[in-house]
Amino acid sequence: GNKNINAKLVLLGDVGAGKSSLVLRFVKGQFVEFQESTIGAAFFSQTLAVNDATVKFEIWDTAGQERYHSLAPMYYRGAAAAIIVYDTTNQASFKRAKKWVQELQAQGKDFYFYIGKMGLLSINLFLFLLLKEAQTFAQENGLFFLETSAKTAANVNETFYEIAKRLPRS
Ligand code: GTP
Ligand code: MG
Repeated sequence: GNKNINAKLVLLGDVGAGKSSLVLRFVKGQFVEFQESTIGAAFFSQTLAVNDATVKFEIWDTAGQERYHSLAPMYYRGAAAAIIVYDTTNQASFKRAKKWVQELQAQGKDFYFYIGKMGLLSINLFLFLLLKEAQTFAQENGLFFLETSAKTAANVNETFYEIAKRLPRS
């Protein structure tokens, strides 16, 4: 029969990485060029039908600013999955994403990690190398990696669909 699954999701990543934009694209189908920096965290919910189940995502969009770092455990505790977002044009943002992965691993979290990213049409050698580095890092750590664009909507629904498919069915 049809199952209802509730899943807590958390988005982590550097300031300006694109967490809120990704969530707003998924939940409201919108993109704004000047998204305000998140204070503390914001909550959203959205349902998605996958195969035999209806998944209700309870999404915590955290603030990337360092002063909110200590709040993060409140949001990732009990989460079924974490989406770790970085900005592909920004090496510092990629480094911050790696740190989030390490923090979650240190907590013994066995939930899935995802690294979203802003889609880019123009590519240069620096960005290409950063992308390769990110792909390798994801592979080595067993993370699911997708390139997304909140602007064009590329791979946004797919990201949440891939998470929904991997949730444990009780
Ligand atoms: P904090 O809330 O400060 O932690 O940042 P955030 O991770 O929520 O970033 P936010 O979604 O606010 O994005 C910052 C800016 O990046 C936005 O104003 C967008 O203009 C831009 N941006 C976000 N996602 C994309 C994307 O997929 N493509 C492009 N081109 N720009 C994006
Ligand atoms: Mg935000």
